[in-house]
Amino acid sequence: MQLHWLILSILMSGLTQARQSSFHNPILPGFHPDPSCIFVPEYNETFFCTTSTFNWFPGVPVYASRDLLHWKHVSNALNRPEQLPYLGYVNRGQSGIYAPTIRYRDGVFSIITTLVNQALPRENLTRWDNIIFNTRDPYGDWDDLIHYYGPGIDPTPFWDDDEIAWVTSTFNSSGVVHAPVNLTTGEITLPYKWLWMGSGGASPEGARVYKKDGWYYVLLAEGGTREKHMVTMARSRSLHGPYEGAPNNPLLTAYKHTDSYFQAVGHADLFQHSNGQWWASGLSVRAGGNYADDPYHANFPMGRETILVPVDWPEGEFPIFQNVSGTMTGDFTLPQPSGPETVPREGNGQLVDANDEVDFEPGCQTPPHFLHWRIPHQKNYKVSPQGHNNTLALRSSMLNLTGFDGDSSLGRGQTFVSRRQSHTLFKFSVEVDWKGYLTRDSEEAGITIFQDQSQHFNIGVVLLSSTEPKNQTSGTIYPLPENEFGPIPELTRAIPDAEPKPYIRFGGISESSFRRKNATRWVEELTELPEEWTDSKLKFQIEAINTTHYSFSAGAAGSSGVDLRVFGYTRGELMVPVYSGTTVGAYATSNGRYGEGAFETYISKWRYAGIKQVIEEP
Ligand SMILES: *[C@@H]1O[C@H](CO)[C@@H](O)[C@H](O)[C@H]1NC(C)=O
Ligand SMILES: *[C@@H]1O[C@H](CO)[C@@H](O)[C@H](O)[C@H]1NC(C)=O
Ligand SMILES: *[C@@H]1O[C@H](CO)[C@@H](O)[C@H](O)[C@H]1NC(C)=O
Ligand SMILES: *[C@@H]1O[C@H](CO)[C@@H](O)[C@H](O)[C@H]1NC(C)=O
Ligand SMILES: *[C@@H]1O[C@H](CO)[C@@H](O)[C@H](O)[C@H]1NC(C)=O
Ligand SMILES: *[C@@H]1O[C@H](CO)[C@@H](O)[C@H](O)[C@H]1NC(C)=O
Ligand SMILES: *[C@@H]1O[C@H](CO)[C@@H](O)[C@H](O)[C@H]1NC(C)=O
Ligand SMILES: *[C@@H]1O[C@H](CO)[C@@H](O)[C@H](O)[C@H]1NC(C)=O
Ligand SMILES: *[C@@H]1O[C@H](CO)[C@@H](O)[C@H](O)[C@H]1NC(C)=O
Ligand SMILES: *[C@@H]1O[C@H](CO)[C@@H](O)[C@H](O)[C@H]1NC(C)=O
Repeated sequence: MQLHWLILSILMSGLTQARQSSFHNPILPGFHPDPSCIFVPEYNETFFCTTSTFNWFPGVPVYASRDLLHWKHVSNALNRPEQLPYLGYVNRGQSGIYAPTIRYRDGVFSIITTLVNQALPRENLTRWDNIIFNTRDPYGDWDDLIHYYGPGIDPTPFWDDDEIAWVTSTFNSSGVVHAPVNLTTGEITLPYKWLWMGSGGASPEGARVYKKDGWYYVLLAEGGTREKHMVTMARSRSLHGPYEGAPNNPLLTAYKHTDSYFQAVGHADLFQHSNGQWWASGLSVRAGGNYADDPYHANFPMGRETILVPVDWPEGEFPIFQNVSGTMTGDFTLPQPSGPETVPREGNGQLVDANDEVDFEPGCQTPPHFLHWRIPHQKNYKVSPQGHNNTLALRSSMLNLTGFDGDSSLGRGQTFVSRRQSHTLFKFSVEVDWKGYLTRDSEEAGITIFQDQSQHFNIGVVLLSSTEPKNQTSGTIYPLPENEFGPIPELTRAIPDAEPKPYIRFGGISESSFRRKNATRWVEELTELPEEWTDSKLKFQIEAINTTHYSFSAGAAGSSGVDLRVFGYTRGELMVPVYSGTTVGAYATSNGRYGEGAFETYISKWRYAGIKQVIEEP
């Protein structure tokens, strides 16, 4: 009998090509929250995913893959400031572009998402600006935005057997609603109809409708996007309900699986390859088993990342999701691309976890994975301006990375360009040509690891007339005032007009409304620029030296190797993601003085090298 089963299963696996397969999570490492993915047979059997970008610009990136293992950044749906100028003005770290959904129908790709302005009260429905991006070319430009009126977040269209797109939304932290929306005009037919209130978890969101075997299924994220995050489902014979929850909800979660390095699993989307295999994308944080005890003080600076799990969806039943781990192994069928190409040739981005060797050649543009905090002022960035080939000119902003309140910029822009931290361990460096360009007190240029305006650590060169802050000696870490959105203590210099001298400044701030007040930190350490470095460009480097610590170093850039000296360390747990994740990049600021464009500095040799992806509890 057993032998028969063995023979039968070998036979079966030969017939269906099912076998022990394996791949690694996360598939989109680093700041890639709230993913939505589709499989499009008409476009050379290609998978497409998109993720949330909150305040960042360009935003709503599109990644494509043919094998689910290699993901190429093929376009940014939000790629022109004119598409959404208001993005430059939303304040509050949690505002911006929320969970997008990508869908394909009749030659058109649509991404629907919401620009949320957390500063407005819930009663003011302009707090939620629901928006639609359409294109026939997912590798090129996306159309101008279509706005539609309707409160709520995480919209997703579903087409039944007619042409009408029923768009679900999650509303008022209560449950799932839907209404028909014309995706080419934005016309919505209100009122919303309630579909399902969820299984009882907090914050129902990310709702999606699918139809299979004569059932309509609603998939939902519940529990909030932190430790209690989970995937639940319900189904009905009618699109409009009533919906009945799955008997074994939640269908996927990491809550209380204390051995898992991958926590906060949820916000799924389901899609099926032409070979029949079902998949779910979702989000997760690599935070480890202790995360559930104290998620606001855990170590996961890269934030919410995109994971993939195989799904078994038997006919007439609820789907079964494999649990999330770093190495996914099991009896599932990975796609076998027909040609040698694992990603499309089209699209001008690179693989999602590629290194950078960017030399800003004359005539080139900055690559599409470079990011700005809110909408950049284009005139503050110029590739290889005259007399400075192979550099990116940064024209300084008055605002530094913290800004005046750690939260907003009122459209003024911060001169800052970055990329995602895509590996647990990495090195990032640039060279900065500062001498003769930074000339006045408070002028500063350098590099940063940045979670948001109130959580970032920097190393740079700064000119100062005095190192005597009003009431503190440099080098001390002290707590901020009690009021979490209160002003940042100003370091007024004693002798502002004295001849300024160059210093290496290691500085930063770690303040989050989520965190204990006494965990708030800010640091400023000044070291006079070593005499022998003063005539060179300076090389700055940030390195994740292990899973908990980043080092900040500097040295004189020369033709032979650079001797880097470490000036400071910070910890991943001081950059707790609210919703996003860390980026690394370069900035130029006059720290509130002299007006915009007080100076120009030139950065070069932009290097990012991934060293290791840690995917199991270290
Ligand atoms: C399919 O791939 C081929 C070869 O790269 C390309 O020429 C063609 O445009 C692709 N078609 C679509 C719809 O992407
Ligand atoms: C909603 O907020 C917008 C933007 O701040 C404002 O113009 C509008 O007056 C507000 N509407 C209500 C009803 O408060
Ligand atoms: C959407 O609106 C356009 C323009 O009015 C119209 O041509 C199209 O038929 C509408 N689509 C649906 C599904 O009603
Ligand atoms: C939203 O929720 C609040 C309380 O949670 C409730 O009072 C209010 O009626 C709800 N609004 C709608 C439109 O459901
Ligand atoms: C996922 O893990 C949970 C907890 O260990 C377990 O109850 C569940 O059966 C697992 N799911 C699958 C599909 O293995
Ligand atoms: C800078 O690059 C431009 C365009 O390639 C070239 O014409 C020019 O000669 C270069 N200048 C220097 C100083 O190398
Ligand atoms: C950052 O800029 C603000 C003004 O926008 C200023 O108050 C603050 O002191 C600056 N930070 C540093 C480290 O100079
Ligand atoms: C330094 O100044 C800040 C803000 O002005 C104040 O909150 C703090 O108590 C002062 N510290 C000392 C030691 O005087
Ligand atoms: C910080 O505050 C929390 C309560 O908010 C308290 O439990 C903890 O002991 C405090 N830690 C320190 C170092 O004071
Ligand atoms: C990481 O390196 C820092 C600095 O050397 C050290 O204090 C810390 O214990 C290390 N952490 C781990 C997890 O090895």
